Amino acid sequence: MEKLIIGCDHGGFALKNKIIGHLKNKGYEIEDIGTYSTESCDYPEIAKKLAKKISEGAYEKGILICGTGLGMSIAANKIKGIRAVTCADTCSARMSRAHNNANILCLGERITGEYLAIDIVDIWLSTDFEGGRHQRRVDMIEKDI
Ligand code: RB5
Repeated sequence: MEKLIIGCDHGGFALKNKIIGHLKNKGYEIEDIGTYSTESCDYPEIAKKLAKKISEGAYEKGILICGTGLGMSIAANKIKGIRAVTCADTCSARMSRAHNNANILCLGERITGEYLAIDIVDIWLSTDFEGGRHQRRVDMIEKDI
């Protein structure tokens, strides 16, 4: 089974625990890089720590959760090779994998309810990148054009 890395700030702590429970039940091996409480912390630290692990090849995919999912994706996308997407619907989750080969899924605990968030996670993890013309476009993201 695939291994995954997951992180959150205080705004995503409760949803992170629910998602970890769900994914462990499905057999995923999870590294949880925190935060580990609802005490206030700074999302860029968590986002960049997780994004660097993916950039270095330790993991193929990760999940970041904050209040909105927005700050996490902005910060993670500063790291080379990262394609982080904030999704609040299942269609965006599917397309972010199929066309954009997203490697980090960001969720907002204050935006998306638990059941929908879990559907988004399942669809995001089970959708393959289509490659082809999309590969050329994804390659262009890292280039100076
Ligand atoms: C924390 O209050 C909140 O700003 C954070 O969780 C996130 O939503 C930032 O984008």
